[in-house]
Amino acid sequence: MYARAVAATTTAILGTAVLLTPTCDARAGEAGEPTVIAHRGASAYAPENTLASIDKASKLGFSWVENDVQRTKDGELVVIHDDSLQRTTNVEDVFPGRAPWKVKDFTAAEIARLDAGSWFSPAYAGTCVPTLKQYMRRVEHNHEKLLLEIKNPELYPGIEQQTLKLLGNEGWLDGRHLGRLIVQSFSADTVRTVHELKPALTTAYLGRPSVAELHQYAGFTDLINPSYGSISNGYVSTVHALTGPHGRPLEVFAWTVDDAATAWKVAGYGVDGVISNKPDVVRAALDSD
Ligand code: G3P
Ligand code: CA
Repeated sequence: MYARAVAATTTAILGTAVLLTPTCDARAGEAGEPTVIAHRGASAYAPENTLASIDKASKLGFSWVENDVQRTKDGELVVIHDDSLQRTTNVEDVFPGRAPWKVKDFTAAEIARLDAGSWFSPAYAGTCVPTLKQYMRRVEHNHEKLLLEIKNPELYPGIEQQTLKLLGNEGWLDGRHLGRLIVQSFSADTVRTVHELKPALTTAYLGRPSVAELHQYAGFTDLINPSYGSISNGYVSTVHALTGPHGRPLEVFAWTVDDAATAWKVAGYGVDGVISNKPDVVRAALDSD
């Protein structure tokens, strides 16, 4: 099914493969197979958005990881998904009087006291919420590639500039790293801002713009990353037909796909990437088709 669909969209896929398909991924599949990205790290198997989750992705053989960045009360960038610490840490126990436990209301030192692993499994007790600086160093150590989401930017004025500054300080905006870094957001304004601040950087918009809107997005984003349930073969082909800010066809990474049937379905649409909490399940499905 997947192979037939790929054959039907050979031109689109070949036209886009040069931009992002990993060239040194030991687990990369057949030519034309979508890139598989470990969502929040390999978050089905280790606590999301922790160093353990990206270590797990690496151990499973996946080089691309997706994670989320937000900001503390005292201006430190930290890697966490929710705007509250409640779901993924023991903040209620450590700071019982501080509901609703928003990330933006806690200092980096306070967040560093939290356990971000026990909620997932006792085996991960003591796992920390990483700062973005700690996180980038682990990504580098693991030789991984990063799809970094600027989460809830409306809560953190200037987070686009601050994130780019940190990425630059860590060496991730040089020519060697730009090919393994994508910055994405649900906010089109944030994606546009990132593009304007660092035009050489690959950007992605999270969502599904209407077909009529797509040409505007092509001015500042290289990828359209929609929920898998919101797309079709026709939509993906329409995105591929547009040229992005770097003169290459726009690409599509679909999220969040954790089962074989959905992986086959979106691969059949011709997506360039599949973002998954269970990247091993998706890879096995794509390899088996
Ligand atoms: O990368 C896609 C995905 O991360 C977007 O949704 O809520 O998991 O950040 P969310
Ligand atoms: Ca995300």
